[in-house]
Amino acid sequence: MPNNVLLEVENISKIFRVQGKKLHAIENVSFTLEAGKTLGLVGESGSGKSTLGRLVLRLLDSDKGKITFDGTNISKVRKKALRPLRRDMQIIFQDPSASLNPRMTVGDAIEDAMAIHKIGTKASRQERVSELLKRVGLPDEVKYAYPHELSGGQLQRVGIARALSLNPKLIICDEPVSALDVSIQVQIIQLLLDLQKEFNLTYIFISHNLAVVEYLSDEIAVLYLGEVVEQAPADELFHKPMHPYTQVLLQSILKVPDRMENKQELLFIQGEVPSPLNPPNGCTFHPRCAYATDECKSVKPGRKEVSESHFAACHLVK
Ligand SMILES: Nc1ncnc2c1ncn2[C@@H]1O[C@H](COP(=O)(O)OP(=O)(O)O)[C@@H](O)[C@H]1O
Ligand SMILES: [Mg+2]
Repeated sequence: MPNNVLLEVENISKIFRVQGKKLHAIENVSFTLEAGKTLGLVGESGSGKSTLGRLVLRLLDSDKGKITFDGTNISKVRKKALRPLRRDMQIIFQDPSASLNPRMTVGDAIEDAMAIHKIGTKASRQERVSELLKRVGLPDEVKYAYPHELSGGQLQRVGIARALSLNPKLIICDEPVSALDVSIQVQIIQLLLDLQKEFNLTYIFISHNLAVVEYLSDEIAVLYLGEVVEQAPADELFHKPMHPYTQVLLQSILKVPDRMENKQELLFIQGEVPSPLNPPNGCTFHPRCAYATDECKSVKPGRKEVSESHFAACHLVK
C-alpha cells in the first residue's frame, strides 16, 4: 500500500431502522484514498452516497468496520477526541444555504468556523476571510451580504471558502454542483480542481452524474443499494466498465448531447431502484440487468478482480 494514504475505509456498514425493518444503507464498503487525490462516488438517489460521506466524517457512527484518517483509527475515538480532527475533514453540500445562518453575514459565517476552533484573533480572522473570498473568486463586499442576496454559484463559493478556512486535508463534496446551471457547474469544478492543486486537498466527490465525476476523479466507486458494485481508476472505468450497472450509467451519459447536462441522465436504465427495505436476492441489480442468469437471481456476487486496482461485483466477470 502506498505510504501517503490519507483515508482508509475498511468494511464499513450502516443499518437504519425504518418501520421496524432494517435498511442496509451501506454494506461492507472499503476503499483507500491517497493525499491529494479524488475519489468519485457515483450512484442513483438513495444509493447511500451521503450516508457514506457522513460515516467517513463520523457525523454518523458505522455499525461495523474501521476508518483510519491520517494515521488515526477514528471509528472508535470518542466525539470529544474527534474535535481536533474535525478541522481536517470538511464537507460541502449541494445546498450551501442550508448550512448558513440566514441572519448572519457571509463574512461572519466564514469567520465563525475559525472562531469555533479558536483560531487567531478577530482581526486576523477577518483578514483571512478577505483572503478566502478572493481565493474563491468573490469580491470583498460579499462579506457584508446575507445568504439570500447571493446566487447559487456565489453561495457555493462561500461554502467552499468556509470549508477551506480551517486548512482541511479532506473535503467531502456532496453533490456540490447538482443544483447549479451547467455553466456554473463547470466554474465550480474548475475552482475545486485549482484549490486541490494549490493546497494538496483530498476529495471525496459525490454525484449522481457520472459525467461530472469523470471530470475530476482519479478513482471512481459506483454505489448501488449501499454496495460498491465496481471500482477502478477513472480512465479504466470509462474505457473498460465491467459491471452492467456501470455500463448503463455510461451509456446514459453518452446519449446526452451535452455531457454536463444532468437533467435527462439515468432515464435510460430500465426499472426503478428496488426498495432498500426489501432488496432483491442474489445480485441486487439482477431485476434491472439485461444479462441476469439464474445464478444472479440467487447467489450474491463477490468482488471479482479485473486488474490490481479494478474490481466488479458481478458473476459475469470471470
Ligand atoms: N437517518 C436515516 N434514517 C433512515 N433511513 C435513512 C436515513 N438516512 C438515509 N436513509 C436511507 O438510506 C438510504 C441511503 O440514503 P442516502 O445516503 O441519503 O442516499 P444518496 O445520498 O445516495 O441519495 C436511503 O434509502 C435513505 O432513505
Ligand atoms: Mg445524497
